[in-house]
Amino acid sequence: MPFSTAGSLALIWPPEAYLWFKTLHIVGVVVWFAGLFYLVRLFIYHQEAAELEPTLRVAFQSQYALMERRLANIITTPGMVVAVVCALGLLSVNPAWLHQGWMHAKLAFVLALLAYHGFCYKLMGQLQRGQCDWSAKQLRALNELPTLLLLIVVMLVVFKNQFPTGAATWLIVALVLFMAASIQFYARWRRLRAERLAAELPGGAAG
Ligand code: HEM
Repeated sequence: MPFSTAGSLALIWPPEAYLWFKTLHIVGVVVWFAGLFYLVRLFIYHQEAAELEPTLRVAFQSQYALMERRLANIITTPGMVVAVVCALGLLSVNPAWLHQGWMHAKLAFVLALLAYHGFCYKLMGQLQRGQCDWSAKQLRALNELPTLLLLIVVMLVVFKNQFPTGAATWLIVALVLFMAASIQFYARWRRLRAERLAAELPGGAAG
């Protein structure tokens, strides 16, 4: 690990500071991602509840709205803050990382992730006001984006400047795309089955 302490704050931190920052950085990242994944899943349920009959719809949607606000404000954003603050700690102990290509690439993808985080807040506001025009299907597709960003950022931090571009990388990317497509197909299959069952009920789908 190219540890250059010259001109860094390493001299004022205790020797184990770097490892503490890294521990908390990883914990922050895990919490942040757990929040991001579940938040958009709640958005999907929130949108799907629009198809319920009015009394149920109001009850479900207000419950989802509450869960979304709590998840975003109590888990997702604090996780993001811990990850970013500890990342700054890591850079202050070892600023040499800032001169490396993999770190520039990582920062670009983290910016995309922060934009995604902000966009989730925008969608949440629209959902709470009943003004969101994203369908459940589109939200499901959106929910795949952080998986891809997670994979790329973790690969960058592990492989650093030796980022692999061989068969193994493409196999993993194909696996992620396959999982994303399976989720879409499964949701479609469930929706079609529900429609078929509703049509088979006495009185048909209109009943
Ligand atoms: C705010 C932007 C970020 C900066 C400046 C940053 C910086 C760093 C640095 C300097 C390290 C230590 C590297 C080492 O000691 O080898 C690190 C480790 C790590 N980062 Fe980040 N990071 C950021 C965001 C993220 C995000 C968003 C993720 C996940 C998607 C992430 C995942 C990790 C992981 C898993 C490690 C541990 C890698 C290892 O020990 O091999 N980081 N980060």
